Amino acid sequence: MKILVINGPNLNMLGIREPGIYGDQSFAALCDFIKAAVAEVGATCELYQSNHEGCLVDKIQEAYGKFDGIVINPGAYTHTSVAILDALSAVHIPTVEVHISNVMEREAFRHHSFVSLVAKKTYMGLGFEGYRKAVRYLALGEE
Ligand code: DQA
Repeated sequence: MKILVINGPNLNMLGIREPGIYGDQSFAALCDFIKAAVAEVGATCELYQSNHEGCLVDKIQEAYGKFDGIVINPGAYTHTSVAILDALSAVHIPTVEVHISNVMEREAFRHHSFVSLVAKKTYMGLGFEGYRKAVRYLALGEE
């Protein structure tokens, strides 16, 4: 199984940005964590991060026919991007949404997710562990 793991804007700032919300581990540490989770289930992955909505849309489009699953933390675009929703709907690749923080316990503007409309599953508020659960859900069907 080939999994594309996409992180959106400001996730590259992990460890620096709001550690009280996102923790003190770096983005590099997250990438290592995800690679280990993917290896654990015998899958392969590509990791992609961008701060630009159009680049995220391009990457999702390019995944068509190449990946069996997508794990995505769209960052702030979660709450605003119909374009990312449309791209995910277009490629029709099983998708799991991840948020490091529990967006439902934060500001009201974070409560709505466009990506949830297409995601098979959403993990939030579990820190890095949410990515591991997302990988295991896609590869093993584990909840
Ligand atoms: C986030 C939550 C979003 O509301 C926020 O804009 C982010 C990160 C999370 O991982 O908790 O950038 O997706």
